[in-house]
Amino acid sequence: MDTIYLNHAGTSWPKPSVVTEAVAAAMETSPRHWPSLFERAHHSVCRYFGISNPAQLLLTPGCTSAISVAISDFNWEPNDKVLTSSWEHHALSRPLQKLQGDGIELVVVPPDSSSPFDLTFFESSLAAGGVKLVAITAACNVTGQILPMRQIIELAHKYNAFVLVDAAQVVGWLPLNFSELGADLIAFGGHKGLQSPWGIGGLYIADHVPMKCVTASCGLSLGDDEPLLSPRPGYCDVGSVDQFSLAGLEVAIDWLEEKARADRLAIGRECVQRFRDLLSAFANVTLFGADDLSQQLPTVAFSVAGISSATVSNLLKARGIVAASGFQCAPQAHETLGTEESGVVRLSFGIGQPEKEIAVALERTSDVIRSLTES
Ligand SMILES: Cc1ncc(COP(=O)(O)O)c(C=O)c1O
Repeated sequence: MDTIYLNHAGTSWPKPSVVTEAVAAAMETSPRHWPSLFERAHHSVCRYFGISNPAQLLLTPGCTSAISVAISDFNWEPNDKVLTSSWEHHALSRPLQKLQGDGIELVVVPPDSSSPFDLTFFESSLAAGGVKLVAITAACNVTGQILPMRQIIELAHKYNAFVLVDAAQVVGWLPLNFSELGADLIAFGGHKGLQSPWGIGGLYIADHVPMKCVTASCGLSLGDDEPLLSPRPGYCDVGSVDQFSLAGLEVAIDWLEEKARADRLAIGRECVQRFRDLLSAFANVTLFGADDLSQQLPTVAFSVAGISSATVSNLLKARGIVAASGFQCAPQAHETLGTEESGVVRLSFGIGQPEKEIAVALERTSDVIRSLTES
């Protein structure tokens, strides 16, 4: 039985063949050429995200490490406050919880009836004063619901707070120009929508952000230049950059920019609609996510009454469908959804996923849910 992979919000698979070829070629390239290849790829990633100065983009092993650098090297002062959402992945909620232990106040902005992020509550929290940083995900990795990023950034800046965005779920799907977006810190990984292998990501740090790097870091030196010393986190502070995954990311972003993939999000949202139509016909199924598809990534999250998400996902797996069950590394989001007992089943679609796979997956999902409904 063919595998139908529907866990692209976890990691994308299969990678485009140009990516696997580029990784293999990089592994065979002489170390003599590594610094210049590194610099070329770094520039390409910056160009893709609209970053004019590569010194603003620290390459990291992934989004988790990028967030960790952002939080640990930020210039905290006594009595600072942080605002966050109730939808965070552990990559952000863990370092925030640690900050709380260090005496920083953490306030979680709840959803309201029409939005995953209550902007009125948010503004009154900002107006109360002392907020140094707003740290939020651009989209919930459990439900695929997009947060009102631009409004959040605008309001935060009105009250002089900095903004850190966890862009792990949206890169490769939403067109993102980091300079235009205006967030002060943006973390991302390459292995989901951006189609690279695991092992590469980045942290964008706008020039005005007060960072307090514990040790002065050295940049890569090219040619006869002196090594660079900087008070901002740099190359060696996050460990060796995976040059091979970076080579994959460099070609992946060209692949993403090809015309054939311009309507990828619209196609993904159509898949969401088709699965929601199917699942909403079952009285024992609860669907999660944005009603308005324009606020939704290509992800369908659902639960079946009285049946654990692991059971549903195992039944799907027996029919060849790879889904994500449980808590998707975001226990806080499950508390918000009220699914903290047994999580949800998450189906997430890929870029260029063949129509035939979608049609077969619909059929098999229907069979599985029907079997649970009848039992
Ligand atoms: C919202 C969110 N943030 C952070 C991460 C962690 O990303 P990485 O695997 O690149 O460290 C993920 C991955 O699941 C995610 O979905």
